[in-house]
Amino acid sequence: MRLTTKSQGGWPSVRGNGRYVLSTRARGPCLRFHGISQPLRPRPVAATRYLSTSPAQYRNTSNLHNMQDKLQSLAFRERLAAAYPWTKAPLIVGAPMRVMSGPELAVAVSRAGGFGFIGPGETPEATAADLETAKGLVEASGIPQSGSGSTLPIGVGFQLWNGNLDIAASAVRRYRPAAVWLFAPQNGQPDVDRWTTRLREAAPQTKIWLQIGTLQEALDAVRSASRPNVLVVQGAEAGGHGRASDGIGFITLLPEIADATQGSGVPLIAAGGVADGRGVAAALGVGAAGVAMGTRFLASQEARIKKGYQDEVVRATDGGVNTVRTQLYNHLRGTFGWPDQFSPRTIINRSWVEHQAGTPMEDLKKRHDEAVGKGDAAWGPEGRTATYAGAGVGLIRSVAPAGEIVEGVRKEASEIIQRLSGLSH
Ligand SMILES: Cc1cc2nc3c(=O)[nH]c(=O)nc-3n(C[C@H](O)[C@H](O)[C@H](O)COP(=O)(O)O)c2cc1C
Repeated sequence: MRLTTKSQGGWPSVRGNGRYVLSTRARGPCLRFHGISQPLRPRPVAATRYLSTSPAQYRNTSNLHNMQDKLQSLAFRERLAAAYPWTKAPLIVGAPMRVMSGPELAVAVSRAGGFGFIGPGETPEATAADLETAKGLVEASGIPQSGSGSTLPIGVGFQLWNGNLDIAASAVRRYRPAAVWLFAPQNGQPDVDRWTTRLREAAPQTKIWLQIGTLQEALDAVRSASRPNVLVVQGAEAGGHGRASDGIGFITLLPEIADATQGSGVPLIAAGGVADGRGVAAALGVGAAGVAMGTRFLASQEARIKKGYQDEVVRATDGGVNTVRTQLYNHLRGTFGWPDQFSPRTIINRSWVEHQAGTPMEDLKKRHDEAVGKGDAAWGPEGRTATYAGAGVGLIRSVAPAGEIVEGVRKEASEIIQRLSGLSH
C-alpha cells in the first residue's frame, strides 16, 4: 500500500488505498489494519492524517469501518463525562430553544444529571439576564461545578444570523457557561469561525458546540482552524429551525458524519425526534455520544411557554402529517430575514390549511393577529399562530417536571440498552 499526504484546508489528508485514517503518533491499544496500527481512542487532530476531505471521497472509504471505529463514541462519552462532571450517562441535553428554554429549565435539566441550555432571548441583552438568574439557581441547587469549578454547569445558545457578537461575548466572559451552542450562520463556516474565535477569547474554559444538519457543514466545521468541541447533528424531525429542504433524519446522517469526521476528536450529539428512551438508545446505536431534546422539554413545567402552546404539543400526534417546515408562521409573526437554508418545523393549524387553499397573505395576517389577541385560543387545530415543535410530538403525552423527564428518559434508555445487549448472548 502506498500512502501520500496532501494538505487541504489546513488538514493533512492521506491518499493511498482509498481507505485509511493513519495516526503518526499512536499511543495505547492499537488496532491492526492492513499492516498499520490504529489507536482505539480518538486522537488529537494534529496527530492524525485524513484520508479524504470531500463527501464524494468519503463515500469511497466506507469499507474502512470496523466495530472499533464505530464505537469511538464510547470514548467520546467518557470525554464528555469528564468535561461536564455533573452529567450522568447516557447524556441527555436540553436544547436551547429561543425564549422557551429559560434559566429554570436549563438548571432543572442539569440538576437531574443532564446538560441544560438556555435559548437565545427576545433581545441579545436578555441572555445576560437569564445567565444571572441561572447563576443564582445553580448556587442554590448544589450542582457540582465543571472540572475546575470555573464554569456554570449549563450552556447558552446563540443564533448567529441575527445575533450580536459583542453582547454575546460580554455575557459569556462574565458568566462563563460550560458551553455555548451556535446555530444558523448566514454565511456558513466563516461566520461560525468568527463567533468561535471571539467567544473562546472571551471565556477559554467555555466549550463550543455547533449545531449542523448536513455532512458538508460537519466537514467544514471539523476542517476549520476554529473546530468546535462538539457537533450537534440535527435531523429533519427536529422542532424549530433546521435545514429547509436538504435535511434527513439523524439515523442516517449521524453515522455518515461519524465516518467522515472519524479521527477529528469531535464528539457528536444527536438531535431531532427524540422524546423518550427508545430514541436515545437508537441515537447511541448509530454513534452519538449523547442526545439533545427540544420538543420534549416544551412539555416540561419549567418551559417558558404559554398554556395554549403547551397543550397543543401534548395533544398533537402523527408528526409527519401534522407538522410541517414552513416560513409561513415566521412571516405571520413579522419575523423576516432567516437565511434561505433554514426553516422551522411547526404543528399545523388554520393558517396553514388556508394558506394551502390559496388565501392571500394579507387575509391570513389579519386573522392571525386577531387570534393572537385571544390568548391561548391562538393555538390548537383551530388556532392560527406559530406552534414550533418537532415531528416527535406524538410521543409526548403529558407535562412533567424537567428533572423527571431527564431521569425517566435516561432510565428507559439504560434498560433498553441492557436488554438489547442480552440479544448477543
Ligand atoms: C420551539 C423550539 C425552538 C428552538 N429554538 C432554537 C434556537 O433558538 N436555537 C437552536 O440552536 N435550536 C433551536 N431549536 C432546535 C433545537 O436546538 C433542537 O435541534 C431540536 O429541538 C431537536 O429536535 P426535537 O425538537 O425533536 O427534540 C428549537 C427547537 C424548538 C422545538
